[in-house]
Amino acid sequence: MYDVIIRDGTIVRSTGRLVADIAIEDGKIAYVGGNPGGPAKEEISAIGRFVMPGVIDTHVHFRDPGHPAKESWATGSREALRGGTTTVLDMPNTTPGTLDEETVRDKLDRAAAHSVVNFGVWVGASAESIPKISALWDAGLVCGTKVFMGDSTGAFGVTPEVLEAVFTQTKGLIGVHAEDQEVLDAARAQWQGTAKPVHNDVRPPAASIKAVETLIALVQRTGRAIHICHLSTAGELALLDPLRGDLPITCEVAPHHLFLSTDNAGHLGNLVKVNPPIRPEIDRRAMMAALKRGRLDTFGSDHAPHTLEEKQADYWSAPSGLPGVGTMFPLILGALKNGRIGLELMVAMCAENPARIFNLEGKGVIAEGADADMVLFREAHTGKLTTEMVQCHCGWSPFVGREVGLGPDFVLVNGVIAARDGVIMDDAPMGRSVTYGGR
Ligand code: DOR
Ligand code: ZN
Repeated sequence: MYDVIIRDGTIVRSTGRLVADIAIEDGKIAYVGGNPGGPAKEEISAIGRFVMPGVIDTHVHFRDPGHPAKESWATGSREALRGGTTTVLDMPNTTPGTLDEETVRDKLDRAAAHSVVNFGVWVGASAESIPKISALWDAGLVCGTKVFMGDSTGAFGVTPEVLEAVFTQTKGLIGVHAEDQEVLDAARAQWQGTAKPVHNDVRPPAASIKAVETLIALVQRTGRAIHICHLSTAGELALLDPLRGDLPITCEVAPHHLFLSTDNAGHLGNLVKVNPPIRPEIDRRAMMAALKRGRLDTFGSDHAPHTLEEKQADYWSAPSGLPGVGTMFPLILGALKNGRIGLELMVAMCAENPARIFNLEGKGVIAEGADADMVLFREAHTGKLTTEMVQCHCGWSPFVGREVGLGPDFVLVNGVIAARDGVIMDDAPMGRSVTYGGR
């Protein structure tokens, strides 16, 4: 007997749509096609609904261990699940940072004990971690190496020597926070006498553009694969667009760089202080255009919560970062409704591309044998985001008032209905560590 049958849904893939039934057994997709017969312990009618693989958010900061007042695997994963995300990859700038086997295993253990979504972790790049990275990669303990080229909340910018060593002395995918430290230092020196500068002036687009130039040269020289996190400017796109497909460079976009700008969200002050900064409208529009044209590969929420109290400090003291793991997919559904992205491209960016780039076994597809992580939603089911809908631990969102997809109607994690209409089931089981193919 099957565990679940999803009937008559419109399954969306990057290559097109298909109306079919999906049968689930032991956490996996056992059958996709015409009537699988039955019976099943549970049936879902998906008439009028789209069915896609669960959303993969390759960029969250759940701060566990480190800052339980801001987020933890328990709270962050629940917020992810509510919004349709079924797998997250967590960043290393926690306390202590994930820089060696012990801290990586400790984080994986915490996630296994408390996360209701599937999970993987990044290892951080530092002079100390470099000699350890290849073994962590070979053992399948990490999804990749995260490099901060510029300093950020909870992270130092790496030296040029460490950056070089990441490319020449480690294995695996390299994820980069691309802001050049020298440009940041110069701009900061220029503005430090000003009480309330604009964050985009203190960390100008030139920092991101210079960092991307450096990265392109490194990739050309070493052939290493990189994933550039949170692209935010027209200048970066201008450098990367002509090289697309020729170099092993993939690009992430964060919702705040698609929906927020210094023009439309400047009034939110430190709440939208984030690195890289939200940019002027001209950059935001360039990012939106790149999105629609399929020039970006993945979405990452860069969920980096800080408390309202911390954000109320003066500009120089307030930490950078904003929450977004639970609003990412709902915002994308709002963009879908408004014609800013197509359905097939949305599925590619939310699920297929991250599964391919990070080589996540069983993820990102609705096919026999794949893990049964799925989201069921209705395209027209949208409304305005309210504060009550935001339940991440820090309790606020810069996206309140934006049009978002409601629900989703069902979210399945490893074959179990884990959330319904945006509400987590009492018996939602713990997620699992992702596994990586081809190492
Ligand atoms: O704004 C940011 N906040 N950017 C980062 O790179 C780190 C993050 C955090 O962890 O708070
Ligand atoms: Zn981040």
